[in-house]
Amino acid sequence: MTAPSSRPRVLFPADGCAIALTEFSAAYPAFAATSHIDELRASEYERLDRLGHVYLDYTGGGLYAESQVRRHHALLKDGVLGNPHSHNPSSLASTALVESARAAVLEFFNADPAEYDVIFTANASGALKLVGESYPFEAGDRYLLTYDNHNSVNGIREFARACGASVKYLPVGEPDLRLDAAMVTEELGRGSDGAHNLFAFPAQSNFSGVQHPLEWIDEAHALGWDVLLDCAAFAPTNRLDLSAVHPDFVPLSFYKMFGYPTGTGALVVRREALGKLRRPWFAGGTITLASVQGEGWHHLAPGHAGFEDGTVDYLGLPAVQIGLEHVSAIGVDAIHNRVMALTSWLLEAMSELRHTGGAPMVRIFGPSDTECRGATVAFYLLDPNGVPYDVARMEDLAGRRGISIRTGCFCNPGDGEIAHRITPSDMAECFVEKSEPVTFTECHDIIRDSTGKMPNTMRVSLGLASNFADVYAFATFAESFRDCGPADVPR
Ligand SMILES: Cc1ncc(COP(=O)(O)O)c(C=O)c1O
Repeated sequence: MTAPSSRPRVLFPADGCAIALTEFSAAYPAFAATSHIDELRASEYERLDRLGHVYLDYTGGGLYAESQVRRHHALLKDGVLGNPHSHNPSSLASTALVESARAAVLEFFNADPAEYDVIFTANASGALKLVGESYPFEAGDRYLLTYDNHNSVNGIREFARACGASVKYLPVGEPDLRLDAAMVTEELGRGSDGAHNLFAFPAQSNFSGVQHPLEWIDEAHALGWDVLLDCAAFAPTNRLDLSAVHPDFVPLSFYKMFGYPTGTGALVVRREALGKLRRPWFAGGTITLASVQGEGWHHLAPGHAGFEDGTVDYLGLPAVQIGLEHVSAIGVDAIHNRVMALTSWLLEAMSELRHTGGAPMVRIFGPSDTECRGATVAFYLLDPNGVPYDVARMEDLAGRRGISIRTGCFCNPGDGEIAHRITPSDMAECFVEKSEPVTFTECHDIIRDSTGKMPNTMRVSLGLASNFADVYAFATFAESFRDCGPADVPR
């Protein structure tokens, strides 16, 4: 019989990946149906293994396939493409490519062009700002949002407040960082009659990976709300079917879905909701006509044109269509099934890791299984006393093994504040008037020094090109800290 104090066997030895893969394949038989992605990994994403890189930051940014860049390059090499908005051949060629990309976005998300329009923006934040600055907030209106929104959704509260609308947050709860559905229903029931009510939530939290019920969209509509569904973290590995759910505003960043190009996002918007928006200014490209003689004379162009300021990224947009075609050819469902099998294995591996005395080596923030969650996992690595190792040091040490993980707050303060039990008074310390604004690092130090809490998190996230070796490499890295006291962590 093994003595309880004996050293646990190494679960994830550096040379054990092949055996672990065999066990994994037996435990997740459906994974075999995604073997075409392993082939792509070896061809299209070959640079990862050639450079010894374990990429685990897909929620930060996706990776492009070599063929995406090749196809885009070929298109540029053989095209004479000029600024759209004119009728010369080079302009018409660009316009055709831009409109083809727009149609491809609608088709990818199964959105009826009679119901939805696509506004190209620089990124998801640009799409969110368009909603914030144009939503017709007035006194008596409501902006309701969940705690686990990204800061670019939180920022809309500034527009709402400035216009006299009320702002209300729905908290997530421990330990899963989910919302109480009854509380959501109750709050949706408090929309103001005849007013503008905007409800914003992420289809997937970029912190915890939590996926909220998309049924809330219909529920909110029935109670008089417009719905902003942030799909920036959801769309890369989940099917968003806009014939099945009908959110009003859907912000996206394409680089998160397929890595390239980085300067383009979109607001996919229901035409009916678009009609409610009031642009605070006009620009080149957004009007049918303006006059300088009659101050105030301008006509906003209908549809997406009224919201695309100046010249769109007409050379970059064809690469969006190429990226969408690339993902479609692989299959969104195959990508989803694959990353969820890998996430399931990873969550289990994390929870199995123990120090010799039995103390857990990992604390997960958010769901510890794959029920209603995506492939983004937030966590701490813990020392034998249950104290988290310094996350910046962990990121650095992972980097030395070629592993890219992310640390920080991920622009998602709400999930972080609940996960780390940071109270309003803890946070207030970081908002006292100072000559210089407090940075996240300073805030971390202030809160750690005054409360012992650590408002800094580690995150791994999987995506299109992830394979078993990636998650195994991370498990090996995490296990290397077994029985490691704070003083034993390598400098
Ligand atoms: C859920 C979510 N929303 C919005 C954004 C903002 O995206 P971007 O920085 O591309 O504008 C992000 C970025 O990480 C995100 O994860």
